[in-house]
Amino acid sequence: MSLVSIARLGTIATVTVDNPPVNALSQALRQGLWEAVATCDADPEVQAVVLLCAGRTFIAGADVAEFGTPPVAPHLPDLVARIEGAAKPWIAAIHGSALGGGFEIAMGCRFRVALDSASVGLPEVTLGIVPGAGGTVRSPRLAGVAAAVELVTTGRPVKAARAQALGLVDAVVTGDLAGAACAFARQALTRPLPPPISRRAIAAPEAGFWTAREAEVAKAAKGAGAPLRALSCLRRAVEAPFAEAMDFERATFLELRGSEQAAALRHVFFAERTAPRPRHLAGHEPLPLRSAGVVGGGTMGAGIAAALRDAGLPVVLIERDAEAVARGIANLQAIFDGAVKRGKLTPEQAAARLAGVTGTTEYAALAGVDLVIEAVFEEIGVKRAVFAELGRVCRADAVLATNTSYLDPRLIAAGVPNPHRFLGLHFFSPANVMKLLEIVPVPDTAPAVLATGFALARLLGKIPVEAGICEGFIGNRILKRYRAAAEGLVRQGVAIAAVDAAMRAHGFAMGPFEAQDLGGLDIAFLQREGARQAGQAVPETLGDVLVRAGRKGQKTGGGWYDYAPGERRPQPSPAVAELLSSQLAPASAMAPEAIAQHLVGEMAAEGRAILHEGIARAPADIDLVEIHGYGYPRWRGGPMFETRDRA
Ligand code: 3HC
Ligand code: NAI
Repeated sequence: MSLVSIARLGTIATVTVDNPPVNALSQALRQGLWEAVATCDADPEVQAVVLLCAGRTFIAGADVAEFGTPPVAPHLPDLVARIEGAAKPWIAAIHGSALGGGFEIAMGCRFRVALDSASVGLPEVTLGIVPGAGGTVRSPRLAGVAAAVELVTTGRPVKAARAQALGLVDAVVTGDLAGAACAFARQALTRPLPPPISRRAIAAPEAGFWTAREAEVAKAAKGAGAPLRALSCLRRAVEAPFAEAMDFERATFLELRGSEQAAALRHVFFAERTAPRPRHLAGHEPLPLRSAGVVGGGTMGAGIAAALRDAGLPVVLIERDAEAVARGIANLQAIFDGAVKRGKLTPEQAAARLAGVTGTTEYAALAGVDLVIEAVFEEIGVKRAVFAELGRVCRADAVLATNTSYLDPRLIAAGVPNPHRFLGLHFFSPANVMKLLEIVPVPDTAPAVLATGFALARLLGKIPVEAGICEGFIGNRILKRYRAAAEGLVRQGVAIAAVDAAMRAHGFAMGPFEAQDLGGLDIAFLQREGARQAGQAVPETLGDVLVRAGRKGQKTGGGWYDYAPGERRPQPSPAVAELLSSQLAPASAMAPEAIAQHLVGEMAAEGRAILHEGIARAPADIDLVEIHGYGYPRWRGGPMFETRDRA
C-alpha cells in the first residue's frame, strides 16, 4: 500500500498520508510527499492542496527509529522547503498531534486548519535534540519570539484553541476536518495569499530578552543540554537571515542527534512505550475495570483512590472506624482542593471527583467491585485480616491487590480464596502524581490478572514495571544499596553535603541525605528494627545513630542536617559530626563526578543482581523505575543505560 495517496475534489487536491501507527516521517514517506508536490504542481486543474492524515493522528514527527542511522535524502528541511515553494498553496488539516517534523511540515504549508481536539508542538528537546527542519526558524515568524521560545524550549504541545490564539494555526474546526479544510482552501483562494512563512519578518524582542530567557531555560532544564541549544537557534533565527539560521539549526540538530543525552532520551522514549504492553502477556485479555475499592485511607490509600477517581472509576474507601473514614475522605478532599488551587480542576470537577468516593467501614460495600487495592498499615497480621474479609465479601473474580512496600506478597496472599486473582500493585507517594507502578505477581497470579495490572496502569496513565518478589522489589532494593553506598562514602570521610551536591550536579533533584531528611529517617529505621527483632543480622547504619538521637529529618528540626525553624534549607550539622565522629575517617575530598560515578555504579550493580535473579525482566525496566520513582535524571537514561559500557 502506498504511504501517500492523491485524490481530487474539483480544484482541490487532497494528499493523504497513511503510515501507521503515527505517520512518522520515514524516508519512504518523505519520498512519497516529495513526489506528491510534483504531481499536484503538474496538474493544471489543481489550485490548492489539502494535506490530510489517516489514522489516529497527523504526522507525529521524524521517525525516531531512524535517528541511529545516517540521514538519507530527501531530507526533511528540503521537503518542507519544497512544500512551501510549491506552485499551489498547501493547507495542513491537523487532527491528533502535529509534532516535531510533523508541525514543521505544517509550517511549510501556507495555512493550518486544526480539529478542536488536536495539538501542535515541537517536542524535540524532550528527545535531546532541537527541531531539524526549520522549527526554530519558522515558529518565531509565525507566532512571535516569546511564543516560539515557550514552544521550542519546553517541548510542550499546545491545544488547538491556544495554538490559534498564538497564531500557530489559522482555523479551528469541529466535525468533518477534511470537508472543513477543503472549504477553507476554496475560501482562501478568493483572496491574495499571505507570503510563505520563511519570507515573513520577525519583530525583535525587547532589550535583555535573551539573557533573561537563558537564565530561565537553564534553570528549568536541570542539566539537560538541548533546551539551551534550542534557545540559541531561536536567537539566530531572529538575528540572522533565514538561510543562515536554517544552516545553524540543522548543524545543531545533527550534532545533538549523535549526543549521549539524545541516545539516553531515545532509550527512555522507547522504554516508556514498550512498558505498558509487555510481550509475554500478548493474547491475555485483561479483566474489566469498572469500579474499585481501596482499603486504608492514609497517605497511600487516599492517593490511590484519587488516581482511580481521576481515571473515572467509582471508588469505595474502607477504613477502620467512622473517624478514620472521615480522615480518609478529608485526605482526598485535600488532594482535590490542591488540584483546584493549581488550576488542574474546576471546583465543580473536584466536587464530582469526591462525590464518586463512598467512604465506609462496611466491607459489604465491596461486593460488586472489580478490583480492591489494600493500603493499610505495613503489618502482616493487619493485612491478612483485611484479605480474609475481602475473600469473604468480594466477587470470586474480583482482582485483589496489596500495596505493600516490603512484606512478602506470598504471605499476604496465603489463605485468600482463588489466589490466582491476587497480585502486588506497588504505588509511589504521592500515588496520584508519581508515574511508576511496580506490578508484583505471586506464583499463583493468573496471566489475565497480571494483564489487568498493566491495564490499570494504562487507565491511570502510569508507567508499569513488573517486579519479582524480594525485599523492596526493584526500586526500594536499589534505594537501599544507594543509601548504603552514600553512607560508605561518609564513613570514608567525604562530607555529607559533598555527596548531596555531587548527586544534584549529576541531575538529581536532591542528594540521598537531603531526600531522607525530607521523607523522614524513621521509616527505614523501623523497618530495620523490625528485621532485627525478627532475628535478622542487620548492621547498624549511620542513619540508625541519628534516629536513636531523635534526629528523624526535617519534621524533627534535623536529620543529616540542621534546619532553622520553618526553613527547608539544609545546614551542615555540628551535632551530627559529633554523633558520628567515632565512625568516620578523617575528612577527605572526593571529586563530585567521582562521587556520582561511584553511586551510580552501585545502583547499576544492584540492578544487574536484580536482573540476574529474574526480579526485573529487562535493564530498561530498571531505568524506568529509577526515572519515574526516584528522580533519576531522565536525560541520563537511568543507571543501566548510563553504565552500559562499563565492565
Ligand atoms: N517515531 C517513531 N515511532 C514513533 C514515533 C516517532 N516519532 N512516535 C510514536 N512512535 C511509535 C511508538 O513507539 C509506538 O510504537 P509501538 O506501538 O510499536 O509501541 C507507536 O508509535 C504509538 O505511540 P504511542 O503509544 O506514544 O501512541 P499515542 O497515541 O499514545 O501517542 C503521539 C501518539 C502523541 C504522537 C506520541 O506517540 C508521541 O508523542 N510521539 C512522539 C512525537 C515526537 O517526539 N516527535 C518529534 C520527533 S523528533 C523530530 O520530529 C525531529 C525533526 O525536527 C527533524
Ligand atoms: P498510613 O499510616 O498513612 O495509612 C494507613 C491507613 O490504613 C490508615 O489510615 C489506617 O487507619 C488504615 N488502616 C489500618 N488498619 C486498617 C484496617 N484493618 N482496615 C481499614 N483500614 C485500616 O500508611 P501509608 O503510608 O499510606 O502506607 C500504607 C501501605 O502502603 C503500607 O503497606 C506501606 O508500606 C505502603 N506504601 C507506602 C508508601 C509511602 O511512601 N508511604 C509507598 C508505597 C507503599
